[in-house]
Amino acid sequence: MPREIRINAFDMNCVGHIQQGLWTHPRDQSTRYTDISYWTDYARRLEAGLFDGIFFADVIGVYDVLGGSPDAAVKNAVQVPVNDPMMLIPAMASVTQHLGFGVTANLTYEQPFQFARRMSTLDHLTRGRIGWNIVTGYLDSAARAAGFTQQMAHDDRYDMADEFMSLVTALWEGSWDDDAVIRDKARGIYADAAKVRVIHHAGKQYKVDAMHLSEPSPQRTPVLYQAGASERGTRFAATHAECVFMNGQKQPAVKQAVQELRQAAAQQGRAASDIKVFLGATIVTGATEQEAQDKFEDYKRYANSEAALVHAAASLGIDFYKYDIDEPIETKSNAIQSNVAAMTRAAGPQWTRRKLLDQLVMGSRQPPWVGSGEAIARKMIEWCDAADVDGFNLSRTVVPECFDDFIAHVVPQLQERGAFKTSYQSGTLRGKLFGRDRRASTSA
Ligand SMILES: Cc1cc2nc3c(=O)[nH]c(=O)nc-3n(C[C@H](O)[C@H](O)[C@H](O)COP(=O)(O)O)c2cc1C
Repeated sequence: MPREIRINAFDMNCVGHIQQGLWTHPRDQSTRYTDISYWTDYARRLEAGLFDGIFFADVIGVYDVLGGSPDAAVKNAVQVPVNDPMMLIPAMASVTQHLGFGVTANLTYEQPFQFARRMSTLDHLTRGRIGWNIVTGYLDSAARAAGFTQQMAHDDRYDMADEFMSLVTALWEGSWDDDAVIRDKARGIYADAAKVRVIHHAGKQYKVDAMHLSEPSPQRTPVLYQAGASERGTRFAATHAECVFMNGQKQPAVKQAVQELRQAAAQQGRAASDIKVFLGATIVTGATEQEAQDKFEDYKRYANSEAALVHAAASLGIDFYKYDIDEPIETKSNAIQSNVAAMTRAAGPQWTRRKLLDQLVMGSRQPPWVGSGEAIARKMIEWCDAADVDGFNLSRTVVPECFDDFIAHVVPQLQERGAFKTSYQSGTLRGKLFGRDRRASTSA
């Protein structure tokens, strides 16, 4: 029996997310991203298709690495303009019962005390369906917006994140006892003050002496996602993450990264089943192979490789315009090291701007899987078995039809093979994923 595959939609509160240029397709609706009904319709649609969740990326800063200017990013809507994803969640939760929400928040620019309260509020309003993708950023443009000249060094960002995590965990898990809230109208006692305590934290980056302002929410700690895969990133994920988001097209490399992650988690006393791995995937599908191929040819006409290069330059931390088109590119980076490693694997050690441009077939470094629902379902199951992956974050292409297509053509094929649920289980996001409401290490 194949494992139950988990499926998230992967999106961002903006026009151009991963597959750059597709917003210009006549059927694409992502230019409606400022309209709340766009998002509530989206949520209903995903829940009707039994998606486990929607995963929102978010990036603080603009993509100004390519040519040292943000102009191409602005012109082509490459993740700018971008609105706050957290604001969408109560609206989307109000029209759904089961859909989970993974939201990215960059802790470098958050105050832990207020951030902990915002996440608790979302956990209350969604009835325990909130997850947080922990990121620390990769852009100097974000650092400049916050009054610094450049971002912290790669590994120092993770050290800061470790401290942030220990502080917010103490606020979420340690400030209010489970039975602190009484709500006794007859005696006029809302909460037992003896069961609420101040958290004292004095670390390198943060100093807090305060009780958490929110009462305990269904999950307390949001489901923790993480997506860094460098050596230091893997150590961080092994310590904190419950869901890990990976990119990669080559099965042996992904398999090895998953193995290393699970081994690192085991060293922290965690079970392999304590971490779910989601692979990023872009899917173009249809009722038949031919229909899928035709759609792919149609979509490709709208892809924008200049815009894709803007995105790649920023996330790799490399200005490709400093190199001739066939000049090998230096691979040291202070941005996303795992992306640089993936690039080197995909294009070979001597990779060049030309080789990179060749990869950007549909406006992104992530080449799509194109095929009938049956072919895609088989491929997904095969990937999960071979690389020990638990599910997929599906990048949007032409939205919302890409999700309609997935639901119409792939979901029934997965269900037929016993690899996808036929109805939702009730309960919190963590309950659905792991069978418990609270984090494993902190459960009573
Ligand atoms: C698949 C994937 C998705 C990511 N999504 C985001 C994001 O939405 N926002 C963000 O600021 N960083 C994002 N990142 C960056 C990482 O979370 C990470 O904090 C980082 O830049 C360092 O990664 P590394 O350990 O691989 O070097 C993403 C990275 C990967 C691989």
